[in-house]
Amino acid sequence: MVEYRSDMADERSPFVRNAWYVACPSGDLTDDSLTARCITGIGLALYRDRESGAAVALRDRCPHRAFPLSKSTLRDGEIVCGYHGFRFGSDGRCTHIPSQANVPSTVRVRAFPVREDDGFVWVWTGDGDLAESAPLPTAWAPEPGADWGVARGAMEMSASYVHLHENLLDLSHLSYLHGENFAGPDYAETPCVFEETDEVIRSTRIVSPTTLPPIFANPLKMMGKDASRRVISTFVSPGLSLTETQMRRLDLGDDAPDHRIIVQHLVTPVTNIFVRYHFKIAVSFAHGALLETMAGQVRTIFGQDKDGLEALTAVRLHDADPAPLEVSVRADRAGVMLRRKLAQMAAGEQGRGRDETVAGEGARAVLDTMHT
Ligand code: FES
Ligand SMILES: [Fe+2]
Repeated sequence: MVEYRSDMADERSPFVRNAWYVACPSGDLTDDSLTARCITGIGLALYRDRESGAAVALRDRCPHRAFPLSKSTLRDGEIVCGYHGFRFGSDGRCTHIPSQANVPSTVRVRAFPVREDDGFVWVWTGDGDLAESAPLPTAWAPEPGADWGVARGAMEMSASYVHLHENLLDLSHLSYLHGENFAGPDYAETPCVFEETDEVIRSTRIVSPTTLPPIFANPLKMMGKDASRRVISTFVSPGLSLTETQMRRLDLGDDAPDHRIIVQHLVTPVTNIFVRYHFKIAVSFAHGALLETMAGQVRTIFGQDKDGLEALTAVRLHDADPAPLEVSVRADRAGVMLRRKLAQMAAGEQGRGRDETVAGEGARAVLDTMHT
């Protein structure tokens, strides 16, 4: 075992579990079938309570011999384990053991706090006592009466949620990973403004004058026009990141309207190297077919992020060279803030101080150098 010392989270870090994460869209759950999900490495069996209709999340592991409850059946509103028939209520308590009359109170499955909002089921896999007073991360909503088009999507990738969050705060990769369809080199060359408060980490980049890529310029009829482009990326919680893009024509002066796109990234760590990712794309200037065309292009761009993150994850996992592994530059500041914050949050949950050495199986020395 090799020890490493790093105050920046990565795929080897403990999960942040005291946080709300999206388990699935609300429509995935019924009261007559069980759905398997995994959040922060913990398997969940999800369904709807037959009486109340509320979403239920139980640990996907029978306390008798670890049979997955998601592969069992629901009968009269209770789970009947598919191996020996123990029955469990929605609070996780065992109500029946076929081979004996009494049911010891110790036979129970862990039930996780669940909330539903805006078409998603959120689950808390950390300390249940903390969940009640913890609000869902504040999502964005349009001003009342505003006519925004909204599209949704989801994808999975073999990467750490740490690196996905870092990617979402990182405005410098757009000119390269998405260079063909999303940003010219002027974008990466423009400095960012970084901000960290107790609540959020934010990076803001204003590129002006610039020309917009076709994905925006075509629907806005701004091809070849001088424009300003402001992008604000905000880490809200381990389960939510927001990206707002504001664009306006410069030749129309102060009267030019702001055209806006806000993407809510609902990030769910499944394992340390697998992440599920739901997103909502809200657009102030597109509906119907135009919105669908734009959303399709955005999904293509997110696919490039998936490919990039999976590629770097494969390098990180398989590279046997123990040389120093990461350097950071000025443009990475928000990502460094984020990874430090995630490391602190995870260490706090484990009762460890920020600077304490973390030991990991097969871990290598990491040199975090900030070149500014
Ligand atoms: S493993 Fe579930 S009842 Fe035996
Ligand atoms: Fe990207």
